[in-house]
Amino acid sequence: MKQGLFISFEGGEASGKTTQIQMLKDYVESLKNKDDFVFVKEPGGTILGEKIRNLLMHDESDPPVAKAELFLYCASRVHLVEKVILPALKSGKTVIADRFFDSTVAYQGMARNIFSSDEILKLTKMLIGDLKPDLTFYLKVSPEIAFKRKNPNIALDRIEKEGLKFHKKVSKGFDFMTKLDKDRFFIIDATKTIDEIHEIVIKKFKEIHNTQ
Ligand SMILES: Nc1ncnc2c1ncn2[C@@H]1O[C@H](COP(=O)(O)OP(=O)(O)OP(=O)(O)O)[C@@H](O)[C@H]1O
Ligand SMILES: [Mg+2]
Repeated sequence: MKQGLFISFEGGEASGKTTQIQMLKDYVESLKNKDDFVFVKEPGGTILGEKIRNLLMHDESDPPVAKAELFLYCASRVHLVEKVILPALKSGKTVIADRFFDSTVAYQGMARNIFSSDEILKLTKMLIGDLKPDLTFYLKVSPEIAFKRKNPNIALDRIEKEGLKFHKKVSKGFDFMTKLDKDRFFIIDATKTIDEIHEIVIKKFKEIHNTQ
């Protein structure tokens, strides 16, 4: 049985997930029990997962068709779950993930539209069972605002290169998940400043730890 706490961060491109997770990591580093926290990102987080991440985002030699893309994300996830997330949770650690299956519903379900959100959720269940985050921070910001944050000197990855229409559908996918699983989501207005969001995250983070 799962014992530790599982927290994920979700949101579209440049919504600030990695920024906030890094700040949370810095905070956790100051705690006495810092070794009780495990940070992972998707896709990736394992040797195999990092190879899949590279295939998905940066390898332009033969971009995957939509269904292959879905299964590559799923392969990375199930490998990460079995090798890292479940063992950490079983030993009582808190796992903090930069994206999890809500992203698959949003990108491969709602935006690519190859399978319905229900089908994506069924597939997810087949792969990882009932595992889901206890708490998901959703950094909500429109793609129009978020994309202005991108550093113009860093090349966009394959998914970022998709147009505004695609990324608006991604937002709809996240909105769908927040309605489907209301209790799990903590929605943050990600147009706030980085420091304001960090303060909100830390407050909620402390709250959920104290109630565990
Ligand atoms: N609240 C904010 N206000 C303004 N800029 C922000 C905010 N949060 C993050 N940024 C900036 O936006 C850019 C993207 O942030 P970050 O990499 O954290 O986003 P992300 O959600 O992890 O993106 P991706 O989905 O591409 O991994 C960075 O340059 C970061 O400094
Ligand atoms: Mg990121």
